[in-house]
Amino acid sequence: MSQQDRDKWNRKYREKLKREPSFDPEPNPTLVELSTELTGGKALDIACGLGGNSLFLARLGYEVTALDVSEVAIDYVRELADREGLSIHPERVDLEQVSLPEETFDLVVDTYYLDRGVLQSAQQGVKPGGLFFMETFLKTNVGGKDGHAPVRDAFKLNPGELREIFKGWEMKLYREDEEAGTVSMLAVKKG
Ligand SMILES: C[S@@+](CC[C@H](N)C(=O)[O-])C[C@H]1O[C@@H](n2cnc3c(N)ncnc32)[C@H](O)[C@@H]1O
Repeated sequence: MSQQDRDKWNRKYREKLKREPSFDPEPNPTLVELSTELTGGKALDIACGLGGNSLFLARLGYEVTALDVSEVAIDYVRELADREGLSIHPERVDLEQVSLPEETFDLVVDTYYLDRGVLQSAQQGVKPGGLFFMETFLKTNVGGKDGHAPVRDAFKLNPGELREIFKGWEMKLYREDEEAGTVSMLAVKKG
């Protein structure tokens, strides 16, 4: 991650919060659908952005580690968590530069952030019997996710790729949506 990319995310979030100073970040809708599978413990939200998933998980009773490279995002997540007294530990990190702890989390969540190296180390961060939720862009010949700016292919998974990366895990949900250009997965690490 270059300084330029970090500046880009900071600028994007600063502008968003200037337009909407009380912005209430929403969790990922597919993650919300899967609420009954989310039974608490330690969670890791990688590339958490403004914290919609982190807040949702903390409200469900998880103790959440929320990581992002943007200090603007991390400061905002900290402010919202403090306001509600939620158990969220926000930290500004470049995920390309840190190593994640192994077999520590009951749940790892990654929405719309794709770095295949980070993904591999995030997989190792899940405890045996723990869960991994991922949703991101999929390469398709059809459309793209409504309302999103065009996304470079480098930030998209190939059809079947996520299933292959999680070979050996039990799939609770695996959905490639060609129309939306997204892939969603909830997988359990066999223990
Ligand atoms: C498309 S946003 C997704 C945010 C959130 N997960 C969501 O679904 O709303 C991508 C996020 O990845 C973060 N990011 C990009 N590169 C990163 C890196 N190397 N380390 C940590 N965070 C990074 C950005 O700051 C941004 O918040």
